[in-house]
Amino acid sequence: MKIASTVKEVREIVKAWRAQGLSVGLVPTMGFLHEGHGSLISRAVQDNDRVVVSVFVNPTQFGPNEDLEAYPRDMNHDSAFCEKLGADLIFHPEPSEMYDPDFTTYVNMEELSKTLCGKSRPIHFRGVCTVCTKLFNIVKPDRAYFGQKDAQQLAIIRRMVRDLNMDLEIVGCPIVREEDGLAKSSRNTYLSEKEREAALVLSRSIFLAEKMIEEGETSAANVKSAMTELIEKEPLAQIDYVEAVDGVSMQPVDQIKAPTLIAIAVKIGKTRLIDNTIVEE
Ligand code: PAF
Repeated sequence: MKIASTVKEVREIVKAWRAQGLSVGLVPTMGFLHEGHGSLISRAVQDNDRVVVSVFVNPTQFGPNEDLEAYPRDMNHDSAFCEKLGADLIFHPEPSEMYDPDFTTYVNMEELSKTLCGKSRPIHFRGVCTVCTKLFNIVKPDRAYFGQKDAQQLAIIRRMVRDLNMDLEIVGCPIVREEDGLAKSSRNTYLSEKEREAALVLSRSIFLAEKMIEEGETSAANVKSAMTELIEKEPLAQIDYVEAVDGVSMQPVDQIKAPTLIAIAVKIGKTRLIDNTIVEE
């Protein structure tokens, strides 16, 4: 497995693969890889002849008061992890390699980024769309892999690819959870022991919603209020949102039917965590 830090190196390596007629998968990440990323890399290895994992903590998707500096990084762990899973190349650029000092062109998603996380993180999805567009242009993959845990991000990337006629397939992969239910996230590492316990309220409320829907509940208001009540019982939890939206348009719905996305963002202490479930046919 190779590690490249420049756009030029990546392009040369991918060009040589293409000359041999090989297919290429891309797994965009911000590093500090866990089994959630692992499931994306394994799926990419299954689907493609060659796999590129990008490890880049993208500054343009962090707001001024967010955790850009504190975001966990561990390149030694990440490269061993990728190698073990069969990735062929890590792209690990410096921010200056990705953003010239006079960088000024952004990809802005309109409607889908106004709800859920977009409300409390107003520039987040502009940064995500911009960096993913850049990564797609650099690697030119046949397929790119994103986790369902960031459901709004996945919906936005799918729409961006459709709207801008980008020539690749977006593959969504299921949420990976710890044994006790907590969705895997690099940000879980911020949690103290007490907060880690309190954080279980996220998955519990998601499982409650799944149970209510399975038992026939179709009112979004009823599901949201039961979830809210459960989360509010946890003293360390502070709700950012508990929402039911259409899984494609990300707009709020009153009635739950496929493909409704039930999504939550909750602060546990200072750590903002997200979780969701999608209602299928
Ligand atoms: O999901 C992430 O880790 C990031 O938002 C992504 C897609 C790698 C873009 O920086």
